[in-house]
Amino acid sequence: MSLLCALSIFCGLFLPFSFSALNAHYCVPRKTVSYQNELKVFREEGIWNYSTMLMREDLGVLLLGAREAVYALDINNISIRKAAAYWRVTEEKQRECTYKGKHAEVECRNYIRTLHTVNDTRMYVCGTNAFSPTCDYMTFSDGQLSLEGKQEEGKGKCPFDPFQRYSSLMVGNDLYSATSINFLGSEPVVLRSSALALRSEFKSSWLNEPNFVYMDFVGESVDSPDGDDDKVYLFFSENAMEYNFYSKLVVSRVARVCKGDMGGQRTLQRKWTSFLKARLDCSFPEPSLPAIVQDVFLLKHQDWRKSVFYAVFTPQSGSSDMSGVCAYSVSAIREIFNEGKFKTPVAVETSHVKWVMYTGELPVPRPGTCINDATRSMGMSRSLDLPDKTLQFIRDRPLMDEAVRPLTGGPLLVKKGAVLTRIVVDSVLALDGERYPVMFIGTENGYVQKAVNYAGEMFIIEEIQLYDNSQPVSTLRLSSSKGQLYAGSEFGAVQMPVSNCSRYATCADCILSRDPYCAWDFSADRCSSVHSLASSSENAIQSLKEGDVSQCPQPDPVAAVDFTLVPGNNIQLPCQPDSNLAQVHWRFSDQTLHSNNKYYIYSGGLLILNASESDAGLYTCDSLEQVSSRIYNRTLAVYRLQPHTEPGAGDGTTVGNEVTNSSDSIHSQHTAAPGPIPDPGGEDPLPPENQSEASSIVGLKVAVVLLSLLSLSLTAVVLWNMSRGRFVCFKFPQSSSESEGKRHSAEYVHIQNRTSEIKLLGPESGRPCSANNNHSAVDFKGNGEHHFTPMANISSLDGLGYINDESEI
Ligand SMILES: *[C@@H]1O[C@H](CO)[C@@H](O)[C@H](O)[C@H]1NC(C)=O
Ligand SMILES: *[C@@H]1O[C@H](CO)[C@@H](O)[C@H](O)[C@H]1NC(C)=O
Ligand SMILES: *[C@@H]1O[C@H](CO)[C@@H](O)[C@H](O)[C@H]1NC(C)=O
Repeated sequence: MSLLCALSIFCGLFLPFSFSALNAHYCVPRKTVSYQNELKVFREEGIWNYSTMLMREDLGVLLLGAREAVYALDINNISIRKAAAYWRVTEEKQRECTYKGKHAEVECRNYIRTLHTVNDTRMYVCGTNAFSPTCDYMTFSDGQLSLEGKQEEGKGKCPFDPFQRYSSLMVGNDLYSATSINFLGSEPVVLRSSALALRSEFKSSWLNEPNFVYMDFVGESVDSPDGDDDKVYLFFSENAMEYNFYSKLVVSRVARVCKGDMGGQRTLQRKWTSFLKARLDCSFPEPSLPAIVQDVFLLKHQDWRKSVFYAVFTPQSGSSDMSGVCAYSVSAIREIFNEGKFKTPVAVETSHVKWVMYTGELPVPRPGTCINDATRSMGMSRSLDLPDKTLQFIRDRPLMDEAVRPLTGGPLLVKKGAVLTRIVVDSVLALDGERYPVMFIGTENGYVQKAVNYAGEMFIIEEIQLYDNSQPVSTLRLSSSKGQLYAGSEFGAVQMPVSNCSRYATCADCILSRDPYCAWDFSADRCSSVHSLASSSENAIQSLKEGDVSQCPQPDPVAAVDFTLVPGNNIQLPCQPDSNLAQVHWRFSDQTLHSNNKYYIYSGGLLILNASESDAGLYTCDSLEQVSSRIYNRTLAVYRLQPHTEPGAGDGTTVGNEVTNSSDSIHSQHTAAPGPIPDPGGEDPLPPENQSEASSIVGLKVAVVLLSLLSLSLTAVVLWNMSRGRFVCFKFPQSSSESEGKRHSAEYVHIQNRTSEIKLLGPESGRPCSANNNHSAVDFKGNGEHHFTPMANISSLDGLGYINDESEI
């Protein structure tokens, strides 16, 4: 039961008696992959803001737009630059821009914001051009990237302000864009630049201080039984007009226009006659203000009715610390626009307007309709033929009464703390012949969360750190055919494979990862990508929904590692699970160990304080990982502590380890008074000659941390580190009054921690335990998240790494 409780308090969804709350802990990624140098990176000295990407699989390049530069990069390896074109602002433009009060070196530059395909070799490119948006054509041929120098007006196609969100889309030769049309950024438009240009009405009921995030095209005319038109969908957030709220309330919207719209004859001349919008609903489990849409991805299906929009939401400022993903089917959105009720404004009191459901009769044809068989049968084959009544209705009431609900009723993923920024979704063919959507979600601190939702269960397979510093993912693109992900940021672009099955070392790890890209291959005895298996798939297993490892071969028994025990010393036994979801469980001669004044169980292992003869014996470290309703139990390490037999070995502070040579030893010492407390943060691993210094720093760190724990008399702590965008996704459970009394004798904790010792206990000893961590007493997780230990009274130690981080600030 204590295990179940520990799980349910994770993520802060504290539901003490609810077994269904077990899923809550899945907001913790199963694995955390910190920054690896093997990721392919592109950046050029002196160039910033790599924020626009256009994938040209046909040309084998990724076009990358940055500040004053466009690159054609090899799509298989973006660190290979095939060509570049530079588009700098002229001195005159920069001067004008500065004169209008903008910052010369920041805002008065040319940020490439638009890249679209025109034809096989030609692209359309727009830049902010020192607050004077300009567009041009660009060709990529014979390995050369060249701007044609057409310098078209970019107003309405590209924002003036490089910091403003916007969206655009090329459909045939028409450019759809949603941005501000003026210098101040105060006049939002949804524009179609084409032979017959159309725009939105300048009314706050159409767009009310919007933030545009995404646009896409759905070819709804294909196989349409009622001769319907194709649509362009637009996602944005804006100030709500339909709520009476004491202050500005932002809501998320989806809007659509018909591709064949030509505007009205008298009413809505040169303006959309088909602009309809609805609120997007994505409710998180905790009550909060409506979440705000940040990015959307359309997972296309051959049958457009089955296409699904995946949207990332973040909380309204200050209302919550949850981000999430909701999915919406094209059919559901379409139904609301085609059949739903409208909202209408009614005047209450003198100046105040309230929006309520419109219950009167609707004009015919239905307002906002595309030209279809029904209108054609009434003799209206162009929007220009629509009657004024229909057009006047839509001009004044573009908002639908009903909100669009998520496909699954609620979010597919909810994550506390880490702010989600961008999303792409891959449809992955698994071994069972089914396709599973795998979400890749960029975060504000430079990670990608790879997540799935198996029948309502949220599961994050892994999180991968993309950059060597913490910076927001500002663009995310997927090449499903290449199996590659591309992420842009201020400082560069990074390429990452969608999977790396070799990270899963054992059969159990491979199955427990529940990664649809990976399966355990019995013939090769390794975790391989499903894609590469193809023919020999009868020799491979996968268990995505259940995570059932029963078909895996039994792992070899773990050999015991011998340690020498010297009375009075502190002994550290490393053991680290390879999954963030696993909990570590220590046993000493069949007795379960808990943290108390004798033992410390922390994420890196076990610490035995002031050892005595009676501590000799067998110590076993097990990992317990819960998947679905099962708990998978595995022994990670076994240690045999033997009393020191040879008397007179120096002063009794050094203990030889009998497993290999004596220099690889657990070295423990007893210090009554720690010296001055050093800066506990960020020391690098020291060369061997400095190891004793390093170890005492580690020891002191532990002491500092434990002391600070004493001052934490809180029973529930949810720590939030704003400055780093980090967070801790757990609560400290109730500490028992018993442990209160004999709180840890922190002042004599002193561990000698040697690199050589770590090596000894690492892979050579044949355990999956990854102990190649110099801070073995303290757990450092890339993003400040923590896995936790099963027993309630020891979880507080899992805060170690975090609290230590805090003291760095
Ligand atoms: C692309 O379009 C341009 C101008 O519209 C035209 O000159 C060129 O031949 C086209 N290229 C291809 C490969 O169709
Ligand atoms: C561009 O990158 C620079 C350098 O990191 C940053 O200071 C600036 O805010 C970025 N500008 C935009 C528009 O993102
Ligand atoms: C260590 O344990 C011994 C007995 O096992 C005890 O006498 C001694 O006081 C302990 N040391 C400390 C610092 O608690």
